[in-house]
This record gives sequence, structure tokens and C-alpha cells, in this order.
Amino acid sequence: MRAKIVVLPGDGIGPEVAAQAVRALEVVARKFRHVFEFDERLMGGCSIDRHGTALTDEVLAACVASHAVLLGAVGGPKWDDPRAKVRPEQGLLGLRKGLGVFANLRPVNVHPSLIDASPIKPDRLRGVDILVIRELTGGLYFGQPKGRDTRDGHERAFDTLEYQDFEVRRVVDLAFRLAQGRRRKVTSVDKANVLESSRLWRQVATSLGQEHPGVSLDHMLVDTAAMRLITSPASFDVLVTENMFGDILTDEASVLAGSMGMLPSASIGDGGPGLYEPIHGSAPDIAGKGIANPVGTILSAAMLLRHSLGLSEEASAVERAVNAAIAEGCRTADVGGALSTTRMADEIIARM
Ligand code: IPM
Ligand code: MG
Repeated sequence: MRAKIVVLPGDGIGPEVAAQAVRALEVVARKFRHVFEFDERLMGGCSIDRHGTALTDEVLAACVASHAVLLGAVGGPKWDDPRAKVRPEQGLLGLRKGLGVFANLRPVNVHPSLIDASPIKPDRLRGVDILVIRELTGGLYFGQPKGRDTRDGHERAFDTLEYQDFEVRRVVDLAFRLAQGRRRKVTSVDKANVLESSRLWRQVATSLGQEHPGVSLDHMLVDTAAMRLITSPASFDVLVTENMFGDILTDEASVLAGSMGMLPSASIGDGGPGLYEPIHGSAPDIAGKGIANPVGTILSAAMLLRHSLGLSEEASAVERAVNAAIAEGCRTADVGGALSTTRMADEIIARM
């Protein structure tokens, strides 16, 4: 097949890891006789430096017109001033919204040979296979009004947590559909004892549960879920939750896998181009050193092949190569090894 893939390397370690994922995709193209056309663009802090905005209309249009978007990471201390009008993260949020990718799939698997890389007790980690589905285009991140003003002589800041029923329905419905091909268990995470938006969330999830009798549905409060992810992570199958809860819980869940650097993500909507990015950030502390773990981005490329291009055999080939490299002891520094970013990718590519 022919596919147009927009690559947004971004900031910090983003360009280092994105380059390795592109290499892996090039190998896939060669081996399986596809033509992937890569279109590299600026997004994030690098775009602010060049154009004064984190995401230009032109880049968004290129993404909308592509088959899929592969992203490294955005942000860094250079653009972190809390009073700044433009922020790298605005580019990412604008892109998610502009592509309409309302569901962020974050699979969390523990590779048996990395069990020791996690600070969690080994017996808790066996059999962990969680698919977190984070709602991505609603909630606190986008709710209006948000802003600052002065009230009674005090500076005030506010954000709005808002969901409409259809926004909950489409993402929870996806959770049920994906659970069908897994262990048929959905845990819907909310804070329904306090938040009105969570009570709507729970109501919609409950009614969807009745439409999917073959899948079991549990509701769990987000604070309990935070605890259970550590005390009994193997008890989760599909976990679906709102935007902010999902952001926080997936960083927590990454500890199970040994490192943030291991985890990929896929953001998908209603059939348009998907957005693929590792769950880690731009890691300014190690940027430019060539030691970042490329696995999360390479596995995101595998998700791109599967979800946006329908190439599941190719996706599995990449995933198998990653698993084999890890099983045979190939490691970057974050998981206790000494391989550079490029050498780690070499090891993966050699096994494809
Ligand atoms: C993530 C990141 C982003 C988010 C930031 C960079 C805006 O933490 O993808 O998890 O909060 O969504
Ligand atoms: Mg996050």
C-alpha cells in the first residue's frame, strides 16, 4: 500500500526517538513492499521558535490530509514560563482536537524479562496486560470557561470539567468493543462520589454495559484505581476513563512496565488519521545524549501500522522484534542497560 505519514519529531528527545521509529517503518516498507511517504514538520517548542505558534494551520492541514501522524514529544524548560502566552503543549492539544482523536489507547504490558526493572514486587507483576483507554478531547483539558481574573482582590484561576453524553458514549463503547477481543472486562474509572461529570460518565457506562452483556463492567473510583494499579495490576483488563484521570493513571501504570520509555500510545477517532506517540515526554534532562529509549515510539509505529493502515501482520512483526530484543537482554539506560538509542533500534531492526 501507499501511505502518507506526517512525522512531528518535536522537542527534547522527541527527534531522537522519532528517527528510530521512522527507520523501523522504512524496514517494514521494504520487507512488505509498501510505499510510506514521510512528511516531517515542526510542532511544539520548535514551531514556537520558528513561527510563534506551537501548531501552524499548515501543519494541522498536512496532518488532517495524511493517513497517520507519528509524534516524538513536545515541551521543555525553554518554553515553560507559566506566564507564556504560547506553549508547546497547546500544539499537541490542538492536534488531538483538530484530528478528532477522542480515544487514546495506552497498552501496558510487563515484559517477563523486565520484571526486575520495576520497583513493584515481582509476584504482583506477573500476567499484567492492561489496555488503558483515555478520553482525549474533552474534560478539564478543553472545558470552557478556563482562565484567570481577580475576585475580591484575589487572583483567581479556573478550569472547567465538562462532558456531554455522546463524548462519554463513543469512548466507553470503544472500550467495550476492544474488550471483546481481550479478557472481556471493562473497568470504568470515575469520581462519581464527588463530580457531576463523573455521575454522567457512570450513567452512560452503565447503559452501555447493558448493550454488551458478554463483557463485565465494574465502576471504580479513581483514587481506588490508583491504589489497585499497584496492589493488583493483573486484575485489570480494559480500563476506560476521562482525560485527566487517564493522564495521571498511565504515568503510574508505566512503573509496572519498568520505564515510561517502554510505552506506546495510539489516539484514534472516527476513521480519520490517527496520532501515534510514546507516552513519555521530551525528557530535557537526557536530550541530545543519544540514550533515550526508542521502544515506546517504535511500538507506537507498530500501533500506527495496525490501527491506521490496517497492516496487522506488519505491526506484529515489529512487536515481535521488540519483544525478542528485550528478551535477549537489549536495554537502554532507563531499564538498566547501556545501549544507545540508535543501537537499541539496530537490535530491534535486526530482528524484524
Ligand atoms: C501525555 C502528556 C500530555 C498530556 C502533555 C504533554 C500535554 O502528559 O500525553 O500524557 O497531558 O496529555
Ligand atoms: Mg501524561
